[in-house]
Amino acid sequence: MIKQAIIPLAGLGTRLLPLTSVFPKELLPMNGKPGIEYILDECINAGVNEIIFVISKKKEIIKKYFNNDSFYRSIIKKKNDPRIIKEYKKILFFKKKIKFVYQNKPMGTGDAVLKAKKYIKSKYFLMLFADDLIMKTNCSKAMIKAHKKYNCSVMASMNVNKNTVNRWGIYSVDKKLDKFNFKISDVIEKPDLLNAPSNNAVIGRYILSKKIFTYLKNQAKGKDGEIHITDAIRRMILDQNLFIGHKFKGKYLDCGSMNGFIKSGIEIFKL
Ligand code: G1P
Repeated sequence: MIKQAIIPLAGLGTRLLPLTSVFPKELLPMNGKPGIEYILDECINAGVNEIIFVISKKKEIIKKYFNNDSFYRSIIKKKNDPRIIKEYKKILFFKKKIKFVYQNKPMGTGDAVLKAKKYIKSKYFLMLFADDLIMKTNCSKAMIKAHKKYNCSVMASMNVNKNTVNRWGIYSVDKKLDKFNFKISDVIEKPDLLNAPSNNAVIGRYILSKKIFTYLKNQAKGKDGEIHITDAIRRMILDQNLFIGHKFKGKYLDCGSMNGFIKSGIEIFKL
Protein backbone atom coordinates (compact mmCIF):
# COMPACT_ATOMS: atom_id res chain seq x y z
CA MET A 1 0.00 0.00 0.00
CA ILE A 2 1.35 3.41 -0.97
CA LYS A 3 0.10 5.78 1.71
CA GLN A 4 2.90 8.36 1.92
CA ALA A 5 4.31 10.86 -0.56
CA ILE A 6 7.34 13.14 -0.55
CA ILE A 7 7.27 16.41 -2.47
CA PRO A 8 10.57 18.33 -2.75
CA LEU A 9 9.74 22.04 -2.62
CA ALA A 10 12.98 23.71 -1.60
CA GLY A 11 14.16 24.62 -5.13
CA LEU A 12 14.86 28.27 -5.85
CA GLY A 13 12.67 28.50 -8.96
CA THR A 14 15.19 30.62 -10.85
CA ARG A 15 13.69 29.63 -14.23
CA LEU A 16 10.54 31.49 -13.19
CA LEU A 17 12.17 34.76 -12.12
CA PRO A 18 10.96 37.45 -11.55
CA LEU A 19 7.75 35.68 -10.39
CA THR A 20 9.70 33.67 -7.83
CA SER A 21 11.92 36.40 -6.44
CA VAL A 22 9.77 36.69 -3.29
CA PHE A 23 7.08 34.08 -3.93
CA PRO A 24 7.45 30.27 -4.14
CA LYS A 25 6.65 28.89 -7.58
CA GLU A 26 4.43 26.19 -6.09
CA LEU A 27 1.97 28.80 -4.82
CA LEU A 28 1.75 30.64 -8.14
CA PRO A 29 -1.81 30.38 -9.44
CA MET A 30 -2.57 28.08 -12.35
CA ASN A 31 -6.04 28.86 -13.61
CA GLY A 32 -7.21 30.10 -10.20
CA LYS A 33 -5.48 27.75 -7.78
CA PRO A 34 -1.91 27.28 -6.59
CA GLY A 35 -0.02 24.72 -8.69
CA ILE A 36 0.76 22.60 -5.63
CA GLU A 37 -2.94 21.93 -5.05
CA TYR A 38 -3.15 19.99 -8.34
CA ILE A 39 -0.36 17.77 -7.04
CA LEU A 40 -2.09 17.35 -3.67
CA ASP A 41 -5.37 16.43 -5.36
CA GLU A 42 -3.54 13.80 -7.40
CA CYS A 43 -1.97 12.31 -4.24
CA ILE A 44 -5.22 12.24 -2.26
CA ASN A 45 -7.19 10.73 -5.15
CA ALA A 46 -4.52 8.06 -5.49
CA GLY A 47 -5.10 7.04 -1.84
CA VAL A 48 -2.12 8.78 -0.20
CA ASN A 49 -2.90 10.05 3.31
CA GLU A 50 0.37 11.62 4.44
CA ILE A 51 2.40 14.06 2.38
CA ILE A 52 5.83 15.25 3.38
CA PHE A 53 6.77 18.67 2.06
CA VAL A 54 10.50 19.34 1.87
CA ILE A 55 10.73 23.12 2.14
CA SER A 56 13.45 25.62 3.10
CA LYS A 57 13.47 28.57 5.49
CA LYS A 58 13.18 30.84 2.45
CA LYS A 59 9.96 29.06 1.46
CA GLU A 60 8.21 28.97 4.83
CA ILE A 61 5.31 30.83 3.30
CA ILE A 62 4.22 27.43 1.91
CA LYS A 63 3.81 26.22 5.50
CA LYS A 64 1.92 29.39 6.35
CA TYR A 65 -0.44 28.86 3.41
CA PHE A 66 -1.48 25.44 4.71
CA ASN A 67 -1.54 26.46 8.39
CA ASN A 68 -3.66 29.57 7.95
CA ASP A 69 -6.96 28.12 9.19
CA SER A 70 -7.31 30.60 12.08
CA PHE A 71 -7.21 33.43 9.54
CA TYR A 72 -10.03 31.75 7.57
CA ARG A 73 -12.02 31.28 10.78
CA SER A 74 -11.79 34.97 11.65
CA ILE A 75 -12.92 35.94 8.14
CA ILE A 76 -15.81 33.47 8.19
CA LYS A 77 -17.01 34.89 11.53
CA LYS A 78 -17.38 38.29 9.89
CA LYS A 79 -18.47 37.13 6.47
CA ASN A 80 -20.50 33.97 5.94
CA ASP A 81 -19.32 33.42 2.34
CA PRO A 82 -19.86 29.80 1.13
CA ARG A 83 -16.89 30.05 -1.25
CA ILE A 84 -14.53 31.03 1.58
CA ILE A 85 -15.99 28.30 3.83
CA LYS A 86 -15.26 25.75 1.11
CA GLU A 87 -11.68 27.01 0.75
CA TYR A 88 -11.26 26.91 4.54
CA LYS A 89 -12.40 23.28 4.68
CA LYS A 90 -10.02 22.37 1.87
CA ILE A 91 -7.05 24.02 3.58
CA LEU A 92 -7.94 22.33 6.88
CA PHE A 93 -8.16 18.96 5.10
CA PHE A 94 -4.73 19.42 3.50
CA LYS A 95 -3.21 20.72 6.77
CA LYS A 96 -4.02 17.46 8.54
CA LYS A 97 -2.19 15.46 5.88
CA ILE A 98 0.99 17.52 5.44
CA LYS A 99 4.23 17.26 7.40
CA PHE A 100 7.14 19.63 6.86
CA VAL A 101 10.87 18.96 6.79
CA TYR A 102 13.65 21.34 5.82
CA GLN A 103 16.34 21.34 3.16
CA ASN A 104 17.97 24.72 3.65
CA LYS A 105 20.75 24.26 1.08
CA PRO A 106 19.62 23.39 -2.47
CA MET A 107 21.71 20.21 -2.72
CA GLY A 108 19.54 18.35 -5.22
CA THR A 109 16.53 16.04 -5.42
CA GLY A 110 18.29 13.09 -3.78
CA ASP A 111 19.27 15.17 -0.79
CA ALA A 112 15.67 16.47 -0.53
CA VAL A 113 14.27 12.92 -0.42
CA LEU A 114 16.83 11.92 2.22
CA LYS A 115 15.63 14.79 4.43
CA ALA A 116 12.18 13.14 4.61
CA LYS A 117 13.54 9.72 5.65
CA LYS A 118 12.44 9.89 9.31
CA TYR A 119 8.76 10.06 8.30
CA ILE A 120 8.68 7.15 5.84
CA LYS A 121 7.16 4.10 7.52
CA SER A 122 6.16 1.72 4.75
CA LYS A 123 8.30 -0.27 2.32
CA TYR A 124 7.44 1.93 -0.68
CA PHE A 125 6.47 5.60 -1.04
CA LEU A 126 5.48 8.02 -3.77
CA MET A 127 7.62 11.01 -4.74
CA LEU A 128 6.38 13.81 -6.98
CA PHE A 129 7.95 16.90 -8.54
CA ALA A 130 5.58 19.84 -8.30
CA ASP A 131 6.85 21.28 -11.61
CA ASP A 132 5.42 18.34 -13.51
CA LEU A 133 1.65 18.45 -13.83
CA ILE A 134 -0.12 15.54 -15.48
CA MET A 135 -3.71 16.35 -16.36
CA LYS A 136 -6.71 14.32 -17.55
CA THR A 137 -5.52 11.19 -15.74
CA ASN A 138 -4.23 10.32 -12.29
CA CYS A 139 -0.69 9.23 -13.11
CA SER A 140 0.12 8.35 -9.47
CA LYS A 141 -2.92 6.09 -9.27
CA ALA A 142 -1.94 4.26 -12.47
CA MET A 143 1.62 3.87 -11.18
CA ILE A 144 0.36 2.44 -7.87
CA LYS A 145 -1.58 -0.11 -9.90
CA ALA A 146 1.61 -1.04 -11.81
CA HIS A 147 3.51 -1.25 -8.52
CA LYS A 148 0.92 -3.68 -7.14
CA LYS A 149 1.13 -5.79 -10.30
CA TYR A 150 4.93 -6.04 -10.44
CA ASN A 151 5.81 -5.38 -6.77
CA CYS A 152 8.68 -3.01 -7.61
CA SER A 153 9.70 0.62 -8.08
CA VAL A 154 7.95 2.60 -10.82
CA MET A 155 8.81 5.86 -12.58
CA ALA A 156 6.74 7.89 -15.02
CA SER A 157 7.99 8.03 -18.59
CA MET A 158 7.37 10.05 -21.73
CA ASN A 159 9.07 10.29 -25.13
CA VAL A 160 10.64 13.70 -25.62
CA ASN A 161 12.15 15.55 -28.55
CA LYS A 162 15.68 14.18 -29.14
CA ASN A 163 17.16 17.65 -29.01
CA THR A 164 15.98 18.10 -25.42
CA VAL A 165 17.44 14.92 -23.87
CA ASN A 166 19.94 16.95 -21.83
CA ARG A 167 17.04 18.44 -19.84
CA TRP A 168 15.81 15.06 -18.50
CA GLY A 169 16.71 11.79 -16.87
CA ILE A 170 16.83 9.33 -19.80
CA TYR A 171 16.00 5.60 -19.70
CA SER A 172 17.54 2.56 -21.32
CA VAL A 173 14.67 0.16 -21.90
CA ASP A 174 15.24 -3.54 -21.22
CA LYS A 175 11.91 -5.01 -22.37
CA LYS A 176 8.23 -4.24 -22.64
CA LEU A 177 6.15 -5.80 -19.84
CA ASP A 178 2.70 -4.76 -21.01
CA LYS A 179 1.02 -1.97 -22.96
CA PHE A 180 1.99 0.77 -20.47
CA ASN A 181 4.97 -0.63 -18.54
CA PHE A 182 8.55 -1.59 -19.40
CA LYS A 183 11.58 -2.83 -17.51
CA ILE A 184 14.36 -0.25 -17.14
CA SER A 185 17.96 -1.39 -17.60
CA ASP A 186 19.59 1.98 -16.88
CA VAL A 187 18.86 5.67 -16.34
CA ILE A 188 21.17 8.65 -16.89
CA GLU A 189 20.67 12.14 -15.54
CA LYS A 190 20.60 14.76 -18.31
CA PRO A 191 22.93 13.13 -20.87
CA ASP A 192 24.08 15.01 -23.93
CA LEU A 193 22.60 13.88 -27.25
CA LEU A 194 25.60 11.66 -28.08
CA ASN A 195 25.40 9.71 -24.82
CA ALA A 196 21.63 9.46 -24.56
CA PRO A 197 20.46 5.82 -24.76
CA SER A 198 16.99 6.87 -25.97
CA ASN A 199 14.59 9.80 -25.99
CA ASN A 200 12.48 8.19 -23.27
CA ALA A 201 12.49 10.63 -20.34
CA VAL A 202 11.83 10.46 -16.61
CA ILE A 203 8.84 12.57 -15.59
CA GLY A 204 8.45 13.64 -11.96
CA ARG A 205 6.48 10.73 -10.47
CA TYR A 206 8.33 7.96 -8.66
CA ILE A 207 7.34 5.00 -6.52
CA LEU A 208 10.49 4.22 -4.58
CA SER A 209 11.52 1.55 -2.13
CA LYS A 210 12.76 2.61 1.29
CA LYS A 211 16.07 1.03 0.25
CA ILE A 212 16.79 4.21 -1.70
CA PHE A 213 17.75 5.95 1.58
CA THR A 214 20.75 3.62 2.02
CA TYR A 215 21.94 4.59 -1.47
CA LEU A 216 21.26 8.28 -0.93
CA LYS A 217 23.30 8.37 2.28
CA ASN A 218 26.52 7.74 0.37
CA GLN A 219 25.50 9.16 -3.00
CA ALA A 220 28.30 11.18 -4.61
CA LYS A 221 27.49 14.56 -6.12
CA GLY A 222 26.59 14.38 -9.80
CA LYS A 223 25.66 16.92 -12.50
CA ASP A 224 26.14 20.53 -11.30
CA GLY A 225 27.45 19.32 -7.94
CA GLU A 226 24.02 18.13 -6.78
CA ILE A 227 22.86 14.85 -5.26
CA HIS A 228 20.43 13.49 -7.83
CA ILE A 229 17.73 10.93 -7.16
CA THR A 230 18.46 9.57 -10.66
CA ASP A 231 22.05 8.66 -9.68
CA ALA A 232 20.90 6.68 -6.62
CA ILE A 233 18.22 4.94 -8.71
CA ARG A 234 20.86 4.05 -11.27
CA ARG A 235 22.95 2.31 -8.59
CA MET A 236 19.87 0.44 -7.38
CA ILE A 237 19.16 -0.78 -10.92
CA LEU A 238 22.76 -1.93 -11.32
CA ASP A 239 22.29 -3.86 -8.03
CA GLN A 240 19.43 -5.77 -9.71
CA ASN A 241 16.53 -3.92 -8.05
CA LEU A 242 13.57 -3.96 -10.42
CA PHE A 243 12.47 -0.55 -11.73
CA ILE A 244 9.77 -0.16 -14.31
CA GLY A 245 8.89 2.81 -16.50
CA HIS A 246 5.22 3.69 -16.79
CA LYS A 247 4.03 5.41 -19.96
CA PHE A 248 1.20 7.55 -18.61
CA LYS A 249 -1.88 8.50 -20.62
CA GLY A 250 -2.89 12.11 -19.71
CA LYS A 251 -1.40 15.44 -20.70
CA TYR A 252 1.99 16.53 -19.40
CA LEU A 253 2.51 20.18 -18.46
CA ASP A 254 5.97 21.50 -17.62
CA CYS A 255 5.39 24.31 -15.13
CA GLY A 256 9.02 24.84 -14.17
CA SER A 257 10.05 27.14 -17.02
CA MET A 258 8.52 30.51 -17.88
CA ASN A 259 7.19 29.42 -21.28
CA GLY A 260 5.89 26.16 -19.86
CA PHE A 261 4.27 27.93 -16.93
CA ILE A 262 2.42 30.38 -19.16
CA LYS A 263 1.34 27.61 -21.54
CA SER A 264 0.22 25.34 -18.68
CA GLY A 265 -2.19 27.94 -17.30
CA ILE A 266 -3.80 28.25 -20.74
CA GLU A 267 -3.95 24.46 -21.21
CA ILE A 268 -5.64 23.91 -17.84
CA PHE A 269 -8.15 26.64 -18.66
CA LYS A 270 -9.01 24.82 -21.87
CA LEU A 271 -9.57 21.43 -20.15
C1 G1P B 1 14.32 16.38 -12.53
C2 G1P B 1 15.08 15.07 -12.62
C3 G1P B 1 15.10 14.56 -14.06
C4 G1P B 1 13.65 14.45 -14.58
C5 G1P B 1 12.93 15.78 -14.41
C6 G1P B 1 11.45 15.65 -14.76
O1 G1P B 1 15.02 17.39 -13.21
O2 G1P B 1 16.37 15.27 -12.14
O3 G1P B 1 15.71 13.31 -14.11
O4 G1P B 1 13.66 14.06 -15.93
O5 G1P B 1 13.00 16.24 -13.06
O6 G1P B 1 10.85 16.91 -14.70
P1 G1P B 1 14.72 18.96 -12.93
O7 G1P B 1 13.40 19.28 -13.56
O8 G1P B 1 14.70 19.12 -11.44
O9 G1P B 1 15.86 19.69 -13.58
